[in-house]
Amino acid sequence: MVSKIKLGVLGSGRGSNFLAIYNNILAGRLDAEVAVVISDKPSKMLEKAKEFGLENVYLNPKDFPSKLDFDLEIVKVLKAHQVELIVLAGYMRILSEQFINSFPNKIINIHPSLLPAFKGLHPQRQALEAGVKEAGCTVHFVTFELDSGPILLQEKVNVDEHDTEESLSAKILEKEHIIYTKAIRMVSGEK
Ligand code: GRF
Repeated sequence: MVSKIKLGVLGSGRGSNFLAIYNNILAGRLDAEVAVVISDKPSKMLEKAKEFGLENVYLNPKDFPSKLDFDLEIVKVLKAHQVELIVLAGYMRILSEQFINSFPNKIINIHPSLLPAFKGLHPQRQALEAGVKEAGCTVHFVTFELDSGPILLQEKVNVDEHDTEESLSAKILEKEHIIYTKAIRMVSGEK
């Protein structure tokens, strides 16, 4: 029997993408295993991981002499749990080159815009300000340049004239919850 791909989930906040992925695993829609959930904040995501009885690790960046030391500790935790794919789900820190080099082509991220448009912070707000008629979300591989790695999947939503940052974000989030699982399936070689 082929063993399930081991995921390491990194996030800083709400954890709705993590939850969607985990629910898909529980429902048999994704053949994967959450090996560890790591957060740089005592986040909602971490609380949920705890509730589910998953391995969960809180690392406070302030406890480390440098950003690199912090990142290398995360790498250590991921390796200790034999993680094969790192899933960034609302992780609000930029990964150091050393981190990225430790897991070549094994780190993916979800961003709430149709990349390459609207990189960085508040992409939904950027989309509204630009007056685009379509927005969406992107799952991509993580490379040294922010929000710029090879794209795995994208999904569009229509932008209506009455959309606010909140309503647009909610529409996009619904799609995020669908495509992140699909992208993990693609990366793990499932049909
Ligand atoms: C999502 O919109 C994701 O695209 C972005 O951060 C948000 C995280 O939300 N990178 P959640 O923590 O998964 O609910």
